[in-house]
Amino acid sequence: MKKRYTVTAALPYANGPIHIGHLAGAYIPADIYARYLRLKGNDVIFVCGSDEHGAAIPIRAKKEGVSPQKIIDKYHEIIKKSFEDFGISFDNYSRTSSKIHHKIASNFFNELNKKNIFIEKESEQLYDLKENQFLADRYVEGECPKCGFKEAYGDQCESCGSSLNATDLLNPKSKISGNKPSLKKTKHWFLPLNNFEDFLNKWFIEDKKNDWKSNVFGQVKSWINEGLKPRAITRDLDWGIPVPIKDVKGKVLYVWFDAPIGYISSTIEWAKKKQKDWKPYWQDPDTELVHFIGKDNIVFHCIIFPSILSASGKYILPTNVPANEFLNLEGQKISTSKNWAIWLQQYMEDFPQMQDTLRYVLTTNAPENKDNDFTWKDFQAKNNNELVAILGNFVNRVVVLTHKYYNGKTPKMGVLCQKDNKIIEEVYNCPKNIGFSIEKFKFREAINLVIDLARTGNKYLADEEPWKLIKTKDSKKVDTIMNISIQICGILSIVCEPFLPQTAKKLKKQFNIKNFEWDSINIKNPIITEEIRQGSLMFRKIEDQEIILQLEKLNDSKK
Ligand code: 2FM
Ligand code: ZN
Repeated sequence: MKKRYTVTAALPYANGPIHIGHLAGAYIPADIYARYLRLKGNDVIFVCGSDEHGAAIPIRAKKEGVSPQKIIDKYHEIIKKSFEDFGISFDNYSRTSSKIHHKIASNFFNELNKKNIFIEKESEQLYDLKENQFLADRYVEGECPKCGFKEAYGDQCESCGSSLNATDLLNPKSKISGNKPSLKKTKHWFLPLNNFEDFLNKWFIEDKKNDWKSNVFGQVKSWINEGLKPRAITRDLDWGIPVPIKDVKGKVLYVWFDAPIGYISSTIEWAKKKQKDWKPYWQDPDTELVHFIGKDNIVFHCIIFPSILSASGKYILPTNVPANEFLNLEGQKISTSKNWAIWLQQYMEDFPQMQDTLRYVLTTNAPENKDNDFTWKDFQAKNNNELVAILGNFVNRVVVLTHKYYNGKTPKMGVLCQKDNKIIEEVYNCPKNIGFSIEKFKFREAINLVIDLARTGNKYLADEEPWKLIKTKDSKKVDTIMNISIQICGILSIVCEPFLPQTAKKLKKQFNIKNFEWDSINIKNPIITEEIRQGSLMFRKIEDQEIILQLEKLNDSKK
């Protein structure tokens, strides 16, 4: 049944370029899901945008000696380009500094404030006496009281994923002066999460246990069970959306209050451009809302944002939040500050036209249920042994043999033997099985089924040996073998698309495949193509020397 879906991927901070950890955590899985849903004929909107508020931006600006505006303008463009390079098929990529977002987020705050959802209270916050400023969020670092990680931020520990208050940090240190902060009284607006416990218990604990990923469910459940406390949703900062209340100066909305609302403003921006109505995507209970994020964002998407949405009374709640764990690099945590990362811009320079290889490796190796490791050796092996040797090899053999025997024209099928019938049944079952895995957010399992399909094709050719039969009186049999092999390539061109969009495009062009809907590929509606074009190889081998170079580069640039 066709449905409406709103798919979101975490808004990346526009304070630096993005790396493979970002792609693996949220954007590739979100893109696979959105592309698949579109191929199924659903009504899908896939939105994202740059997260341009929060302390991370002015901190970066100070470091580079420029204004925060310059920082967000620079990185918004770089990040947007990387997403385009890697085929992330957003319907809209917005930014939270946009006018429309400021308006929508301010309205959200005002509406909830009018409904008396928030509490206003004075509290003591960390203050840098030397710099004369409050130390919100990333302006302060210290030891996480939960896991002992030494570089936890004032609002969040990136190591254990806990959400923190700056005053909870042990041995806090100002990020600007390096001094030990003092405490100073200040007034803020709080979201009393404790008032949402009944709602969360019902919406989350009772309803979600069966279909949410266990890593997500477990984390959220333990937060709810620990007891929720009020959380400040405003900050003493001069960068962000000003608290929209007359006479309130020098205070902005907390970045984690406004950023998820960015999904809604991105949808509204898209709808304006397309002259569509945005409301069904956020307010119709029949719409499925799915947030793709990394594990450090779970609390915000599964507790805070749903509480805000439910308080407004108008919005739907997420159907699922299939958060991924973290991707490490060569056995170490990816770190921007230590420059231990593979930056997407750099990858594109070193491996031009090889976006699908990275998409492939990051999907087969995705940190779906536990942290996982990316190594350059594994990258090379997966490219050479799977993309080149299985998928590329199968397609190439079919193209070469069809040209050799039939001048590129598809031969008609002859009489089918039991083995042919079995293989036809098997290959036409593939889209359904791959779809099941995608719908369960098991993207690793799904992409393995795609490669298995190419493996099946290779084995079929190897077992049937058309190159031997062509010289015998059995040459009619070769027509059948090649026709079936061409059909397998046709199916591959469709099922590849969510994972390897560039490859799918090439395959479709080479095999003259029209745009099929996912569900229309079945045994009763075989993929027939009349003519096959010759073309360049789909994938190229990666040499040892290229991998040695990458490892040297990584180690040399480590800070
Ligand atoms: O962790 C991050 O990179 C945040 N900028 C994610 C924001 S997601 C959303 F809610 F906007
Ligand atoms: Zn921690």
